[in-house]
Amino acid sequence: MSQHENFIADTLLSFHDISWKTEDGKSILHGVSGVVQAGKVMAIMGASGSGKTTLLQILAGQRQQSEGAVRINGEDMNRAMKRYLGMVPQEDVLLPTVTVEEAISFSAAIRMPSNVSEEERKQLVEQQVADLGLQSIRSSRIGDPRRRKGISGGEKKRVSIAMEMVHRPRVLLLDEPTSGSSNVAVAFTIHQPSSRDFHLFDKLLLLSEGRTAYYGSARGALAHFEAVGHACPEFTNPAEFFLDLLSGFDVVLEEELEQAEEQRSRALQRASSSADKRKFLANEENFATTFTEQFVLLFSELRLEGV
Ligand SMILES: Nc1ncnc2c1ncn2[C@@H]1O[C@H](COP(=O)(O)OP(=O)(O)OP(=O)(O)O)[C@@H](O)[C@H]1O
Ligand SMILES: [Mg+2]
Repeated sequence: MSQHENFIADTLLSFHDISWKTEDGKSILHGVSGVVQAGKVMAIMGASGSGKTTLLQILAGQRQQSEGAVRINGEDMNRAMKRYLGMVPQEDVLLPTVTVEEAISFSAAIRMPSNVSEEERKQLVEQQVADLGLQSIRSSRIGDPRRRKGISGGEKKRVSIAMEMVHRPRVLLLDEPTSGSSNVAVAFTIHQPSSRDFHLFDKLLLLSEGRTAYYGSARGALAHFEAVGHACPEFTNPAEFFLDLLSGFDVVLEEELEQAEEQRSRALQRASSSADKRKFLANEENFATTFTEQFVLLFSELRLEGV
């Protein structure tokens, strides 16, 4: 393995005290931090306007943060590293006149390094068509939703994911949908996942008006909020429960959050010093399900939505 391949083999994306202000000085994100490693899924949740897309765009290098740093394996993100990131935007940007296959091939053709052979490129396209269940609509035109002629919204989302996946990103950033692929670090935003999906995330970052309300394992979130007097009632979707809780968020959790904050900054410091990185990874919590399981489940949900 080359040094370069080694570097990306166990990608760790971390973001440190990210803040963002609008041009006229309004603060949107306030010191948000987190770590995502290859093969794991982080869900970023929060009400509409809480800053999810803003954070994701900063991670993707599409927006410049006002403060803080985005790092891959402890190194500040630079232009060269950006090609390891794939970003699927909240609103799909697809040409209505081309077919599904053309859209994916086109994406492969324009952004693939020149040392990738024609043959290999075709293979990558084929694999994405298969992985994302697009065979039956590969020759369909993307179309225009207003005229209701063309592929569905869920199918469009899958085409957008395929268009990123052909570039074999190490980190896939998905705004809103629920999907992923093996050996890719996934940070994605999801407004309101179903109860079943919620338990599949490895990590959860809850945003409330641009501030971290919770950061840690998704399972730990339930215990955390229960410990501070907000038990999730039985038969209630945890995701909905959290969002309700956050809309009335006040000082009750401040102390707990400060402790979590301290713990987290210690962990982040360890993560960004490469010598201790492995130790940090080894100490990561045991995840509920493997990445493949998560992918299959999350993806089958997406597939249903597309029908
Ligand atoms: N370029 C900008 N200039 C001014 N305000 C902005 C800009 N971008 C985002 N905002 C504001 O920042 C806040 C967060 O926006 P963001 O798009 O990140 O929210 P979100 O969590 O993704 O919401 P949704 O769930 O609706 O997609 C919103 O109040 C939005 O109006
Ligand atoms: Mg958004």
